[in-house]
Amino acid sequence: MEGIFERTLEQLDAEDAELLESAFEVAASAYAPHSKFHVGAAARLSSGRVVVGSNQENVAFPSGLCAERVAAFAAGAQFPNDSIEVMAIVTTNGEKVLGGFSPCGGCRQVLFESEERQSHPIRLILQGGRDAKIVEVASAAVLLPLAFKARGLGAD
Ligand code: THU
Repeated sequence: MEGIFERTLEQLDAEDAELLESAFEVAASAYAPHSKFHVGAAARLSSGRVVVGSNQENVAFPSGLCAERVAAFAAGAQFPNDSIEVMAIVTTNGEKVLGGFSPCGGCRQVLFESEERQSHPIRLILQGGRDAKIVEVASAAVLLPLAFKARGLGAD
């Protein structure tokens, strides 16, 4: 598929390999007592800063948040003028993943809007477990054909 590439760890440059490692590290801080599914996300910003997130659940299920959004929103809150260049997203529960690990629809929409706001793509590096294949995606938009866009609802 266009914009989606399989990679080996050796093919990643040092910065991307480090970002992937940060995502695995932060997955350990997931608060996921309900799903027991641990996800880590590490975003490298244009400045080189790295902002991380892990999924945070709540017994009132919709109140929790995915790792990707924890990281993206933390970056937006702390460094609003520093755009996201690349986000590594991993789970350590790869054996539970069917058909390859990739962000949920809600996270795709959030990352897509971040791309629109910052006017450049966010490269994604995905890995569903340390032994799983690494998939690089050129842009969140690649994962969200026919993305929801609207005028006058705050996103323009
Ligand atoms: N989750 C993420 O954090 N990111 C994803 O890409 C998929 C799902 C979280 C949400 C919930 O805490 C748990 O994984 C199970 O869905």
